[in-house]
Amino acid sequence: MSDEYGQRASGTPSLEIAKLNHLAYRCRDAEETRHFYEDMLELPLAHVIREDHVPSMGEYCPYVHLFFKLGDGSYIAFFDLGDGKASAPDPATPAWVNHVALTVPSFDTLLRFKKKLAAAGIEVLGPTDHGFVKSIYFFDPNGVRLELTCWIADESYMEAREAEAHSKLAAWTRRRGAGSHLRREPWPLTPWPSLAF
Ligand SMILES: [Fe+2]
Repeated sequence: MSDEYGQRASGTPSLEIAKLNHLAYRCRDAEETRHFYEDMLELPLAHVIREDHVPSMGEYCPYVHLFFKLGDGSYIAFFDLGDGKASAPDPATPAWVNHVALTVPSFDTLLRFKKKLAAAGIEVLGPTDHGFVKSIYFFDPNGVRLELTCWIADESYMEAREAEAHSKLAAWTRRRGAGSHLRREPWPLTPWPSLAF
């Protein structure tokens, strides 16, 4: 149970939900998406499902479902519904909020990908130092914001962050309850990117 200030639940987290299996997004063109994830990000196309009916719903909607494999055996996946459309950005959410962060093994790898993406005409932000990771940011051809990130923190640093996490959340919960979190300036602060690559 958590109290009203979000204190840690009693007992030990089981961590039985142990690993990401896959994330799935809509893509506007399967081959364009394959090029980006396989040729630019070097993730192999590892599974393709072609169906005319959605297995869970039974709905008729011809699609192809692509899975790109990450180094830990998890996947990032896409649906091409054959209509050339990408998901529309959420007008209620700044473009930098929703994103997918993927780990690379080193800062050198981060810089290598920044150089490779930039050479292909893709706008890349960063590296940004977040204290526990360093990251670069860019958009895939479907408007999905991606972050490549490498660890810079050691285990003790992250243990200290975990130890303070609930009290920091409680402080935020009190602050937003008082209304002092409300943003005054208009957004989006980051323009939605051109999807012309
Ligand atoms: Fe992030």
